[in-house]
Amino acid sequence: MERKRFYITTPIYYPSDKLHIGHTYCTVATDAMARYKRLCGYDVLFLTGTDEHGQKIEDKAKEAGVSPKEFVDRIVEGPQGVKDLWKLMNISNDRFIRTTDDYHVASIQKIFKKMYENGDIYKGKYVGKYCKPCESFWTESQLVDGKCPDCGREVQDAEEEAYFFRLSKYADRIQHLLEDTDFLEPRSRVNEMVNNFIKPGLEDLCVSRTSFTWGVPVDFDPGHVVYVWVDALFNYTTALGFLNDKYDDYEKFWPADVHFVGKEIVRFHSIIWPAMLMSMGMPLPKKVFGHGWLLLDGGKMSKSKGNVVDPYLLAQRFGVDALRFFLLRTFPFGSDGNFSNEALINTINVDLANDLGNLLSRTVSMVGKYFGGTLPTEQVEDAEKDKELVELASTLRTRYEEQMEKFAFQNALSEIFKVIDRANKYIDENAPWVLAKDMEANGARLARVMYNLLEVLRIAGILLTPFIPDSAAEVLKQIGACEACSTWESAGVWGSLPADVTVTRGENLFPRIDMEKELAALEEIAAQAKKTALPAVELEPQLTEKVDFDTFCKSDFRAVKVKACENVKKSNKLLKFTLDDGTGTDRQILSGIAAFYKPEELVGKTLMAIVNLPPRKMMGQESNGMLISAVHTEHGEERLNLLMLDDKIPAGAKMC
Ligand code: ME8
Ligand code: MG
Repeated sequence: MERKRFYITTPIYYPSDKLHIGHTYCTVATDAMARYKRLCGYDVLFLTGTDEHGQKIEDKAKEAGVSPKEFVDRIVEGPQGVKDLWKLMNISNDRFIRTTDDYHVASIQKIFKKMYENGDIYKGKYVGKYCKPCESFWTESQLVDGKCPDCGREVQDAEEEAYFFRLSKYADRIQHLLEDTDFLEPRSRVNEMVNNFIKPGLEDLCVSRTSFTWGVPVDFDPGHVVYVWVDALFNYTTALGFLNDKYDDYEKFWPADVHFVGKEIVRFHSIIWPAMLMSMGMPLPKKVFGHGWLLLDGGKMSKSKGNVVDPYLLAQRFGVDALRFFLLRTFPFGSDGNFSNEALINTINVDLANDLGNLLSRTVSMVGKYFGGTLPTEQVEDAEKDKELVELASTLRTRYEEQMEKFAFQNALSEIFKVIDRANKYIDENAPWVLAKDMEANGARLARVMYNLLEVLRIAGILLTPFIPDSAAEVLKQIGACEACSTWESAGVWGSLPADVTVTRGENLFPRIDMEKELAALEEIAAQAKKTALPAVELEPQLTEKVDFDTFCKSDFRAVKVKACENVKKSNKLLKFTLDDGTGTDRQILSGIAAFYKPEELVGKTLMAIVNLPPRKMMGQESNGMLISAVHTEHGEERLNLLMLDDKIPAGAKMC
């Protein structure tokens, strides 16, 4: 019999910056789902990739002084790039699409043409607003306070000849799809879509641009490039070989079983995407699931906000599995969640080090200590004492499956950890160390207690595989689970492990982390990163407003020599200078530069001052003029250098 197929996708990422932990979240969730379905016996296709066209990329490449293709190549294929990250995170995608791949570009041209020929794409004039960072067009009525409703940033006026897609034509069918089917989940996102976008009236969508060139060219109208979202959405089908010869499993895998997407792109996936598929006469995906955002201090992570959390760094410090686990254990997939280092460390310590890690190491070491690593087949059950644990563990797979089928990763993991908790309690209840005191009388009972613990670890290990693949394999290895007792089927059958199983002690899976020390270390790293992320040198922008020559000439700049310099009492900013300005009378100037100089290092120096400013009082002292310094910013820190003149120049010499 042919195996059932399952096709799952992540959004394809914009390679405009390095990916952060928010991007990693969705891909890890998709990976867990793909691995779960494979475990269940499905023939799975898991697709991810990169969305490489659009004005944002073109602009970024220009900034970097390279071609757009060179720019995206670096972020996608380069060191610590997108592909590297997925490899590091143990992502099991079967395919990776880049929208700059030739086969995809050719397919998009055919798709665009087909919708043009069937009348759903027509030529018109686009007048509206464009949000460059989001690559989104908005109508006036969709803006929030005149800004992009997605990201809140400024939008630009846009007017150009453009092609339009007849989105309006599909409004009723889309509304029906959203309201009357399970196409879009979670359900709360349906109301959002219907109320915010469909009820106010769906307008036709601008689907080509002429103001930049980094996109798929419209082959029948040079100068136009296909709107990046049309190009991007169809990736889900071109990567199967739709209208190209690169692959040939469109028939087998389309329609997709589920698209996992972040909540801000639900609009594209639940309105525009199905409408275009309808236009193409293609089947609709079975489901779109809009997951929440990982927030940092209440805001969405983004590079532009400077609060990126680097998955490389976290994986390096805590391990890939710990990071994967944390993401899916801590936050309900459909809602937003607040990322914090503290929550991460806490989850690792409580669930992984304490509950799972301890259960494994205690069990395996007791089997070693009491039985030399191999259990005797003679074992004695205690119906009363074993009942609850056996019952819970034997039915775990069913409860887990129910949650996984709803993409409720957090709940699925909760179910597993309830059983692990129960097993740790079972150890205390049965006190193996007491039984071990009289092996002749209690050896067979002790063997059964150990067997039950190994069974719990086996079932938990199998069901944890989608989440923490390497660690779960290690659990199964240490408890001596054979291949046949590591399968999905066997996870539903209590007692699959042979009675005389042999365990192998291995490494401690998840060492406990010292919360305080680790938090301090992370803070230090973040502070350092923030500093180096800032530009090396930043300069004040030059003024464009002109000053007339005569006004400028009225400023009297002179060389002055420092006779004395001291800190102003009660001020940590001000230095008081006594200066020889060539007039024979000392001049006093106060200057807010105490952070940059010690008074004694300035005595005897020749500086430059403007001497005809009106007197000013500061901290009760009079200042007559101003010393001239050069200022700039270095890695976010202000720098100041007094203008120091050649000592040959006499005090009072005029600067002009
Ligand atoms: O949107 N928390 O690409 P993208 C959770 N190219 N998810 C987050 C997140 C966060 N802090 N930050 C980003 C695009 N994401 C398009 C997709 S699909 C045909 C085209 C998620 O790189 C975000 O919600 O901006 C989105 O689902 C995904 O990362 C890719 O974002
Ligand atoms: Mg985005």
